[in-house]
Amino acid sequence: MLDTLSPIPTLTHAHKLLSWYDRHHRELPWRVSPSAATAGKRADPYHVWLSEVMLQQTTVQAVKPYFTKFLERWPKVTDLAAAPSEDVMAAWAGLGYYARARNLKKCAEAVANDHHGIFPDTEEGLRALPGIGDYTSAAVAAIAFNRPSAVMDGNVERVISRLYAIDAPLPGSKPEMKARVRELTPTDRPGDFAQAMMDLGATICTPKRPACALCPFRDDCLALAEHEPERFPVKAAKKEKPVRVGAAFVAVTENGEILLRRRIETGLLGGMTEVPTTAWTARIDGGTDIDHAPFDSDWHPCGAITHVFTHFELRLSVFRTRIPAGKEPTGWWVPIEKLDDEALPTVMKKVITQAIPTAFAKH
Ligand code: ADE
Repeated sequence: MLDTLSPIPTLTHAHKLLSWYDRHHRELPWRVSPSAATAGKRADPYHVWLSEVMLQQTTVQAVKPYFTKFLERWPKVTDLAAAPSEDVMAAWAGLGYYARARNLKKCAEAVANDHHGIFPDTEEGLRALPGIGDYTSAAVAAIAFNRPSAVMDGNVERVISRLYAIDAPLPGSKPEMKARVRELTPTDRPGDFAQAMMDLGATICTPKRPACALCPFRDDCLALAEHEPERFPVKAAKKEKPVRVGAAFVAVTENGEILLRRRIETGLLGGMTEVPTTAWTARIDGGTDIDHAPFDSDWHPCGAITHVFTHFELRLSVFRTRIPAGKEPTGWWVPIEKLDDEALPTVMKKVITQAIPTAFAKH
């Protein structure tokens, strides 16, 4: 008799993941929770786009205050489009990669000027906007417009590589992983599916000590079946980063003002604010001694800082001097307690803190 019974239907991966997400999703300021989404609430495409661009730089925790600050200042994409570039760059400072902030502004302008302030609602339409790549177009299409795009970031790569125990190393294995994501993505609730994969990667399928017992894929995961989830994703051996050197000069007046200048528009940290430094680049070392100081003074060495960029590591020797007010070399003077209003990249905040340990303490 038994063999005449139809097999018990098994839940699909998407179904398992979505019911996990319904119970365990993270509450995020740009996110519409699944119950609100079921009741017809839609995520604002501007919020989704802004959060996704910010999240490519750093963690959810670090992005939250930036996201809130941007929306308070520029509630609509048309407001961001109309904002002075320097204000956007200064508000972005600390999130890294200023090219992204420049592209953010260009994209807002394109939406405001060429699309009447309304984001295109397809992956292709979004992809045609300045600064929007494969990841962002897929994520915004899925999350804001419920399109069944295959969304893959680092978290999703980890989940997929473990679920299928993909032995080929990253980055070569990306197309295979993307094909797997495409095949798993449901036509019903694709936006929640994309966010659920990311939440799963961030909270359960973590790089170290994943919480496999709590995972909705625990019965399906090939890496877990092999008892070695942490082996995945397999990565190609990394090339050592070159180390570059240079010097940075922190001049402070008796009134507590610090000398700043603006970097040239092009290249790394283009258009951002800095203290005077020697001419280092990703390929060329800068000078490391006080012969390169912006003006003659009693410069004191005060240690060095290291900052790791994508393609190289930079070590800057830091020098400090105190001078009477009134000297006017090229650049401008800013009171130390106003430094937060400047578009200072993280590497410069490290330099200034090395010279003046209390510079960024809350006043
Ligand atoms: N990381 C990047 N984008 C995300 C999102 N929409 N939800 C959760 N984590 C993310």
